[in-house]
Amino acid sequence: VGAAALIGAGTGLGAGEALSPGADPAGGDAAPPRLRMAGSRARRGGLGRLQPGITGTPPAFAHVLALDLADGGGPDRARERAAAVLKAWSAAADRLHEEGPAAVADGAASADLRPASLAVTVGVGASLLAAAGREDARPDAMADLPEFASDALQEQWCGGDLLVQVGAEDPVVAAAAVQHLLARAREHTRVRWSVRGFRRTAAAAEDPAATPRNLMGQIDGTNNPAQGSSLLERTVQVQPGAGPDPMAGGSYVVVRRIRMLLEDWFATGVDHREQVIGRELATGAPLGQRGADAEVDLTAENADGSPAIGGHAHIRAASPQNNLGARMLRRGYSFDEGWRADGTRDAGLLFMAWQADPARGFVPVQQNLADSGDALNEYTRHEGSALFAVPPAPSGGGYIGRELLE
Ligand code: HEM
Repeated sequence: VGAAALIGAGTGLGAGEALSPGADPAGGDAAPPRLRMAGSRARRGGLGRLQPGITGTPPAFAHVLALDLADGGGPDRARERAAAVLKAWSAAADRLHEEGPAAVADGAASADLRPASLAVTVGVGASLLAAAGREDARPDAMADLPEFASDALQEQWCGGDLLVQVGAEDPVVAAAAVQHLLARAREHTRVRWSVRGFRRTAAAAEDPAATPRNLMGQIDGTNNPAQGSSLLERTVQVQPGAGPDPMAGGSYVVVRRIRMLLEDWFATGVDHREQVIGRELATGAPLGQRGADAEVDLTAENADGSPAIGGHAHIRAASPQNNLGARMLRRGYSFDEGWRADGTRDAGLLFMAWQADPARGFVPVQQNLADSGDALNEYTRHEGSALFAVPPAPSGGGYIGRELLE
């Protein structure tokens, strides 16, 4: 099985697809094959498969929720609750991937709608393992994220025992699936935080294959590992180690709710905005180079000999070259909650970084962005933060996360 097939198996694109042939709404690299849910796919060499919703073209809408287990009853009860929820979600996710909105309760908002690439992804937080008395099963890669100098975290947007990401090309399909999944967990959980994210839709895209823009207007995602590449596979998927690893074939996601100071950002000139990132706004080309796809050359110079990409440009500080080769797959969503009570804008990026080990992905890069004075910091506020283990898709009668719990 090639890397493309292995990774593509996680796309969660439903059969009888809502997308027209060739439509690739969220852009990036080549459009992934229109695959059904990963549930029936073979495993390669014992390596589990990624859940849907991690690689492949991100659907235009995603609702991301963190839930906590209901209190009381001690570790045994917590473990029972967690197992009940994860079993229910695994079964529900399988059905949703196979049958689409038809699998949700009778009379749902999505009645008569097509699958719309519905994809459900489920994760487990370290706090769940602690509550369930399973600290000993906590993988090293699940170490708490360190504090970063630029953090402005608010408790209400941080942490969570469980993660659900529901992606779809249609917001009503996503909403109905969220309703369906949460009804199955109601007795055992309460929602801790939730963010509805969006990207450009296929209907609006001039070039559906082009990398989309974020709310700051930048083409965002250009220098991600390419879909289907072995770099992507190595970056995202936990590889088998010397001993048994319940996470082999799975991934880890860092979620950061990053508010953008959009008024301040758009009050500056285009030149300044380009310097902050180190790329042209119109084309996405690295400064001093041509075309968005040009390999970033951090040594490129202006006519006067000064660096084309400034010392504090975001792509300099975030570059693998300056972070011991650290790599991640950035697959975030814009959010827009209007205005806060104090009149400031509540919109930004629900940043999601997928990697096999956050210590070799998000953590060193964010440390460098915070400590080296990334010019973007002036226009962003990291208000929420969470880390989840996203176990491989279950096989042979198992359920998501079983190996972590039992
Ligand atoms: C690159 C925007 C936060 C890591 C970029 C690019 C843009 C961008 C426009 C250039 C195009 C691309 O290669 O995708 C933003 C915005 C952020 C944000 C608006 C916050 C609201 C972060 C965070 C991290 C990060 C928190 C990780 C800790 C990276 C990396 C690259 C990148 C690794 C590619 C660098 C390279 O190899 O060229 N970002 N970013 N970004 N960003 Fe961010």
